[in-house]
Amino acid sequence: MAQNIYDNLDFFSGYSQLPRQVHGLAGAPEWPTLRAMFPHVAGKRAVDLGCGFGWVSRWLVENGAKTVLGVDLSENMISRAREVTTDTAIDYRIADIETIELPEAAFDFAFSSLTFHYVRDFDRLARMIHRSLTTGSHFVFSIEHPIFMAATRPHWIEDEDGRKTWPVNRYAIEGERRTDWFAKGVVKYHRKIGTTLNVLMRAGFNIEAVDEFAPSVEQVRENPALEDELERPMMLLVSSSR
Ligand SMILES: C[S@@+](CC[C@H](N)C(=O)[O-])C[C@H]1O[C@@H](n2cnc3c(N)ncnc32)[C@H](O)[C@@H]1O
Repeated sequence: MAQNIYDNLDFFSGYSQLPRQVHGLAGAPEWPTLRAMFPHVAGKRAVDLGCGFGWVSRWLVENGAKTVLGVDLSENMISRAREVTTDTAIDYRIADIETIELPEAAFDFAFSSLTFHYVRDFDRLARMIHRSLTTGSHFVFSIEHPIFMAATRPHWIEDEDGRKTWPVNRYAIEGERRTDWFAKGVVKYHRKIGTTLNVLMRAGFNIEAVDEFAPSVEQVRENPALEDELERPMMLLVSSSR
């Protein structure tokens, strides 16, 4: 059973105050890059894995997707998604993507944002997603970048020029990592970039694009807090096709 940290009260109240949850996609600096990886979504049957508050599920129907299935383990996240959604083309369900079996060839687009690093068995998940998609479909997702996950947090050290640096710890050792973020002992799973991409290819996906997201100069100018994200990649964005 996956850890359901988003139903922990302290975690949920901290997480809900993040700019990306208050302002939605406008508060997510990687969103323009991620959206550029999408195929045309009009008329598509989409699935949003770990949909959270449903920001992307709603964007998909607003941009013509025929239906969206939004899946999340957390009752808190799904309740909020249901509260703020009126479109009946979106079906939100509470389910664990670690074990869920989606119907075969039921979707034309699979998406996930910042969720797969909570999943222990990415191999099973990638194969299941592949089966659930029709031929020619796209599968686009973001995860916490493995270098970010392996970097020392929350403390940094200063290099000889006084710049903040985050030493990377045991990058080659894959598997469970625990971190304190809004709550103690949040469980995540570290996989090397190569492992993630090889899992996708073994499942039958063609890799279309990979982006180690870093904010642009303009984004840092507008929001100087993003400066740290230039020191190590924070997110890995992947676009693939079946
Ligand atoms: C960082 S949030 C991202 C939410 C949303 N995709 C977004 O970008 O705003 C991660 C989400 O993954 C969900 N999640 C984590 N493990 C999961 C699992 N095993 N099955 C389904 N959802 C999971 C969490 O409940 C949470 O809503």
